Amino acid sequence: MPNDENVLNHISFIMDGNGRWAKKRLLPREFGHREGAKKFRDIVEYCLEYKKIKYVSVYAFSTENWKRPEKEVKGILNLFYDYMNTCIKENDKNKMRVRFLGNRSVFSESYQAKMAETEQVTSKYERTLGICINYGGKDEIVDAVNKLIAEGKTTITKEDITNTIYTGVMPPPDMIVRTGGEYRLSNYFMWQSAYSELFFTKTLWPDFSKKEVDELVEEYKGRQRNFGGVKNA
Ligand code: FPP
Repeated sequence: MPNDENVLNHISFIMDGNGRWAKKRLLPREFGHREGAKKFRDIVEYCLEYKKIKYVSVYAFSTENWKRPEKEVKGILNLFYDYMNTCIKENDKNKMRVRFLGNRSVFSESYQAKMAETEQVTSKYERTLGICINYGGKDEIVDAVNKLIAEGKTTITKEDITNTIYTGVMPPPDMIVRTGGEYRLSNYFMWQSAYSELFFTKTLWPDFSKKEVDELVEEYKGRQRNFGGVKNA
């Protein structure tokens, strides 16, 4: 039965399956990521602009993804760099705040400067895209706790952690969608996902579609969210 009270403020995607998409076509993995980046732009625009969802986030590059061949890693990081330039150039068309979530200290100075510029130029907009890059969910919690200790805290509350993790002002995701047919979160949003509704689809990310977003959002509306309480208590 549809539940109209299920407000959808934040939708999040684990964009999996680029490599397999390329392999099926006998193409190098980089081609899959390039298609994945195109799809990412389409889906983000669709969710923010047409579905009027205020927050969208994506798991784009994990702390574990550095284990991949150097050429592949470079290819992915270059796609982000190009994307950052587009966000800066087209900011008054997209009207979208971009935030990078993750440990950015590992990136070169110029890369970090481009991330900061992207965030600064887009900071005036309300609807928000969170891009998890060099992101690890467990690291995020440990980093937050260490930061709080360094600030002199001796007792730490849930609110302290919520306010200190990378997502900060973003509300927790209402929906997390993983494409590519794996049924796990892979160290994604370990803190934020406590009450997220989870969706898994076998569709490989480059094949993912707006129609599928519509179907999943409809399914979300039919889910009963109790947050640990009792239905109709
Ligand atoms: C997982 O698929 C995907 C990644 C690790 C990279 C995701 C990156 C993009 C979609 C490009 C993002 C670009 C921008 C501009 C945000 P996989 O390679 O693990 O796929 P597989 O499981 O089929 O091998």
